[in-house]
Amino acid sequence: MIGSANGTRVGITGLGVCVPERVVTNDDLARHVDTSDEWIVERTGIHERRMIAEDQALTDIALPAAQAALQDARIGEGDVDLIICATVTPDMMFPTASALIADSLGARDAAAYDLLAGCTGFMYAVAQAYGMLAAGLSRRALVIGGDVLSSILDWTDRSTLVLFGDGAGAVVMEPVGHGGFLGFELGADGGGGVHLQLPGSGSRKFESPESMLRMNGREVYKFATRVMVSSAEAVLAECGRTIDEVDVYVPHQANKRIIDHAVGKLGVPPERTVVNVDRFGNTSSGSIPLALADARADGRLRDGALVLMTGMGAGLTWGSALLEWTDRRSA
Ligand code: ACO
Repeated sequence: MIGSANGTRVGITGLGVCVPERVVTNDDLARHVDTSDEWIVERTGIHERRMIAEDQALTDIALPAAQAALQDARIGEGDVDLIICATVTPDMMFPTASALIADSLGARDAAAYDLLAGCTGFMYAVAQAYGMLAAGLSRRALVIGGDVLSSILDWTDRSTLVLFGDGAGAVVMEPVGHGGFLGFELGADGGGGVHLQLPGSGSRKFESPESMLRMNGREVYKFATRVMVSSAEAVLAECGRTIDEVDVYVPHQANKRIIDHAVGKLGVPPERTVVNVDRFGNTSSGSIPLALADARADGRLRDGALVLMTGMGAGLTWGSALLEWTDRRSA
């Protein structure tokens, strides 16, 4: 699916994030599996990640991220009429994380649902919210991306354990006077889905009673390096923009090698690329909003900045968006 914006301008007017307090280093993981800080840093660029406490679940980090986004947008809980939570690790299948968050916020008039698109979930959710806002169905949306992949990891599998972390981010989206989303490109390849699976997590029965993440790292790597480039190029072409015009490149934070490959192929100057996989690992749906928050903290999300975001993940899925950042305080 590909399209450029026409009509109502819709932008991001609030941004908030939350990561668990507990820091898990590569050396900590080396106490569970046969790995080393040197191997992990060299193959992934990851130094540490955050993980929730035993008694926590997704909404314990997604709710604070949502509250921070609302505060940042300077609006109250009752001012959103749509809440989408992109995640593959909700507290439970139902009630959904979004409904629980709506209840905790007191957002009584909001439609609320979870969205399942692997690590691309946040990109899909932002595109859906854009569509509902541009159509006039929603007035103001809260889009949350978050995961606690630590809860579905096989702690005996060194090839996946070292890659992931927990984290959440949220954005408020609404019509804006200037800037806003310029276009989206989203796709899926269920034929490749077998390479990144959570068997036993749905209605199909599997032999193993436990539901843990399974990944064919080499196949996912090939897929990732391909779509990170093709999806970004497609959305730029659709919007009639070039990579030279991009001020801030926000790639999914799966692995520093995948990011470096995309940066090289696309021709983005490294200084325009946001990288925080070293501190957080792959936080799935939390990855892009966490990176956006870092870009803003660095002062890179100035009014009018052209922001290119690309996610990819289980499904297999991918998605890009091009956005002209709106800083309403500078208007
Ligand atoms: N520590 C030490 N050795 C390891 C580890 C580890 N943590 N993990 C794997 N190895 C070993 C392997 O067993 C293998 O050993 P062998 O040669 O004796 O068989 C060796 O290292 C090399 O394995 P490769 O798989 O070839 O290593 P590679 O350089 O490809 O790196 C990696 C593996 C990092 C997993 C890479 O394939 C990758 O990044 N894949 C993409 C993963 C990804 O991004 N997934 C998330 C997608 S987003 C989402 O939706 C969740």
